[in-house]
Amino acid sequence: MSGAPVIRVSGIRKTYGDTVAVDEVSFEVPRGQIFGLIGPNGAGKTTTMECVEGLRKPDQGRIEVFGLDPIKHAHALQRRIGVQLQEAQLQKRIKVWEAVDLWASLFDATVDAEGLLDQLGLSDKRNAWFMTLSGGQKQRLFIALALINDPELVFLDELTTGLDPQARHTIWGLVRDIAARGKTVFLTTHLMEEAERLCDHVAIIDHGRIIDHDTPAGLVTRHCPQRSVFVSTTHPDAAARFDALASVDSVTTVGDQLTIRGRGDDLVTETIHCLSEHGMRVTAFRTEEPTLEDVFLTLTGRSVRE
Ligand SMILES: Nc1ncnc2c1ncn2[C@@H]1O[C@H](COP(=O)(O)OP(=O)(O)O)[C@@H](O)[C@H]1O
Ligand SMILES: [Mg+2]
Repeated sequence: MSGAPVIRVSGIRKTYGDTVAVDEVSFEVPRGQIFGLIGPNGAGKTTTMECVEGLRKPDQGRIEVFGLDPIKHAHALQRRIGVQLQEAQLQKRIKVWEAVDLWASLFDATVDAEGLLDQLGLSDKRNAWFMTLSGGQKQRLFIALALINDPELVFLDELTTGLDPQARHTIWGLVRDIAARGKTVFLTTHLMEEAERLCDHVAIIDHGRIIDHDTPAGLVTRHCPQRSVFVSTTHPDAAARFDALASVDSVTTVGDQLTIRGRGDDLVTETIHCLSEHGMRVTAFRTEEPTLEDVFLTLTGRSVRE
């Protein structure tokens, strides 16, 4: 259900000595969404998230979570939010069930712990020491701890950093499950692919400032409208035929490989239609869509990995 935003951040600024970590940052997170604050390392994601969690105090600006001030109303909010721990905050020799039990003891009302471990695929690890868990299992335990009080809003800071692709896919599925149960998820990531696959809405932050926000598809359409089709054919008129299509900007030919660049949703359909209309024999066909990675490059002039 949409309606009033769950998080409202307006004009926050946070400095550490001479470092301006976050400046004029504003955004809203609607109820029931997976919202991503995305950007490179050092951009100000954790600082912003911790201000929203009430763990740091911004120098300027206003934050509301469920209409409450995260610092003044920390106690009232504690029941309604779930925060992912960082690894260093758990003892090496605490067992999985002990960690869950300890966390549950901090809240008046909790979900069924065994059910939660089962949901996160940790039932057979309930007696294992924390230090013996794999990276993916540790992250699943942190998700379990964040969900123990059945929160309405869950904070996840770089949840899949350091995980292999398979563990990462498992975690993405679990985050989608959280949202499917009607909870709001506020996450940070420097992985553009993760944001693209997981988030309903993203805000891109760079050097402490939000540079744009929208749905991932909306950002791609606005900033990187160009699409490409790669075709291999020996048909003599192919380049001229493609060039004549309404949505095509340019055609370049190297040997029998043609690169067709254009914009709009009809480019691929027009290309395929043209192939069939002129009976062209094609030995390879591939399309390329721009990604959030390309959006970041367009907006900042550099790659998010640099
Ligand atoms: N406790 C701190 N003391 C001093 N500088 C900090 C502190 N936390 C973060 N910073 C600095 O603030 C900037 C933003 O950091 P951070 O919010 O951690 O970014 P991100 O989470 O996007 O990597 C960086 O330049 C970082 O070095
Ligand atoms: Mg961070």
